[in-house]
Amino acid sequence: MPVTIKTPEEIEKMRIAGKLAADVLEMIAPHVQAGISTLELDTICHDFIVDVQQAIPACLNYRGFPKSICTSVNQVICHGIPSANKVLKNGDIVNLDITVIKDGYFGDTSMMFGIGKTPSHADRLIKVAQECLYLGIEQVKPGNRLGDIGHVVQKHAEGMHYSVVREYCGHGIGSEFHEEPQVLHYGKPGTGLVLEEGMTFTIEPMVNAGKQHTKLKPDGWTVETRDGRLSAQWEHTLLVTATGVDVLTARPGESF
Ligand code: MF3
Ligand code: CO
Ligand code: CO
Repeated sequence: MPVTIKTPEEIEKMRIAGKLAADVLEMIAPHVQAGISTLELDTICHDFIVDVQQAIPACLNYRGFPKSICTSVNQVICHGIPSANKVLKNGDIVNLDITVIKDGYFGDTSMMFGIGKTPSHADRLIKVAQECLYLGIEQVKPGNRLGDIGHVVQKHAEGMHYSVVREYCGHGIGSEFHEEPQVLHYGKPGTGLVLEEGMTFTIEPMVNAGKQHTKLKPDGWTVETRDGRLSAQWEHTLLVTATGVDVLTARPGESF
């Protein structure tokens, strides 16, 4: 399937799905505390998505993923599986990645949380990863190219002596979870797909404190840093508008 340009009707549905995904992060935030398990976070999100939002948790059974959200703690880069055995503790960092389907359209967003008093090196990593996302978003406008996004993300992360994960990337999104194009978080300015009004895709940089290399756990899902050091990720679903970008999963307090 080629890259699709969304119709105004599709965009309206994506706005709704994006808002719902953002609302899940707002809802769960006060629960993300020392002593809660990642399975409890999953259950709360699942029930909210299904019962309150009357939407579908997109991760559940997606290619065999067993839970409704991804919970990636410390050295886990992405796709962490919620578990009763994974109880959050003081000093941990965790990414919660939420994807919902409403009326056939997807909204996908993730953010980092620090548990209690986190080390300053962890706070720095979290902040730089968010800055990488925001710098990428600033590049989204008609006529710019995907390589412009990848370049600013890579430059900022590497400039801080962090590294960018290569094996996982952002993606087109719409009536399917993962559509074309692939949105790499590294690259060269002026290269790659030219952005056009009506495209929808995610930017979701994974930034490692140490080296870029990843390791897939035997569960077939959990992706960790090979060197065991921390990783941080933030994600938004974006719409290319006539003049720039709409952040479909923006939370209150974020201004673009
Ligand atoms: N939400 C992830 C992304 O940003 C994908 C999770 S797939 C799952 O693309 F199966 F692990 F849930
Ligand atoms: Co995504
Ligand atoms: Co996601």
